[in-house]
Amino acid sequence: MTRSGGIRTPGVEDEPERVPAPAVAAGEEDLDRSLRPSRLADFVGQPSIKDQLAVFIEAAQARGEALDHVLLAGPPGLGKTSLAQIVAAELGVPFVQTAGPALERKGDVAAYLTALEPHSVFFVDEIHRLPRALEETFYPAMEDRKLPITVGQGAGARVVTLDLPPFTLVGATTRAGLLSTPMRDRFGIQHRLEPYGLEDLAAIVTRSAGILGVELDPDGARAIAARSRGTPRVANRLLKRVRDFAEVRLAGVVIAEAADQALTLLEVDVLGLDRLDRELLGAICERFDGVGRSGGTWRVGPARRRPCGGSTPCARALGRLL
Ligand SMILES: Nc1ncnc2c1ncn2[C@@H]1O[C@H](COP(=O)(O)OP(=O)(O)OP(=O)(O)O)[C@@H](O)[C@H]1O
Ligand SMILES: [Mg+2]
Repeated sequence: MTRSGGIRTPGVEDEPERVPAPAVAAGEEDLDRSLRPSRLADFVGQPSIKDQLAVFIEAAQARGEALDHVLLAGPPGLGKTSLAQIVAAELGVPFVQTAGPALERKGDVAAYLTALEPHSVFFVDEIHRLPRALEETFYPAMEDRKLPITVGQGAGARVVTLDLPPFTLVGATTRAGLLSTPMRDRFGIQHRLEPYGLEDLAAIVTRSAGILGVELDPDGARAIAARSRGTPRVANRLLKRVRDFAEVRLAGVVIAEAADQALTLLEVDVLGLDRLDRELLGAICERFDGVGRSGGTWRVGPARRRPCGGSTPCARALGRLL
């Protein structure tokens, strides 16, 4: 079984979900949904992306056209799905959602596209996992709003071209490099989300605390932000754990000290690294051949010991971290 983040320790198959792992954890969709910003004004940080989207949305609305297709790239938990929903909300159009792996046949794509209301946002998450053959189905749909379909089989087969309503395809990907160039080039608007700074993350947890009804002081917000690895989803997850700690062990207000105590209890250090991260980094440092990819998963395991003697740049950097 591959854990979120794709890192595992041999023999520890049923360890709990890791708090600082940025991918969405099992059963966490409700948290994501409840804390998700719904309008551009609520979306914290990424100022250049927000400014540009605001202009493009206003221009499309003024012309009465569908917004150009949008590609959102970036690591997990940085707000791609949130932004896609915000685009639909700001445009005031329906939001229809699917994911690359869910589209298997041309008929799946046709069913979605032909049922769209004009100007809808059609969101395809993990678009890099779209089967290659289906990518080609999207090309005429994106460019000319046409969908050629083959009807019948063998000698009697013929191609029927369906007209599609104007729509905006919003693709999200954590692996933009895996998208083919023709697919990428058909997105008129392309943005890459970057990890968030401390102040932005503090603003995000403060906003989330308000929604969850947690009393969080500014120092507490910054303490959580500092350990969130630049990722809003991690910040929200840490906030929930810190809230548990504050409710059970303290009077309820999440001051910086409470946040530090809670995160220390969770073994999340000041850099946002957990025990497994530290083990992995330690293994990279101490036994370079003790870490490797096995079956697509990074593995920390027993290996021939080949200490690096603490003198390599790697060891010196890790010495500062660990
Ligand atoms: N800029 C932001 N402002 C406020 N909250 C945010 C922001 N970005 C993300 N979040 C919070 O982080 C959570 C995760 O964001 P989202 O699901 O949009 O990330 P994602 O990039 O789609 O992740 P994945 O690649 O795993 O699908 C959201 O529920 C939301 O609460
Ligand atoms: Mg998402």
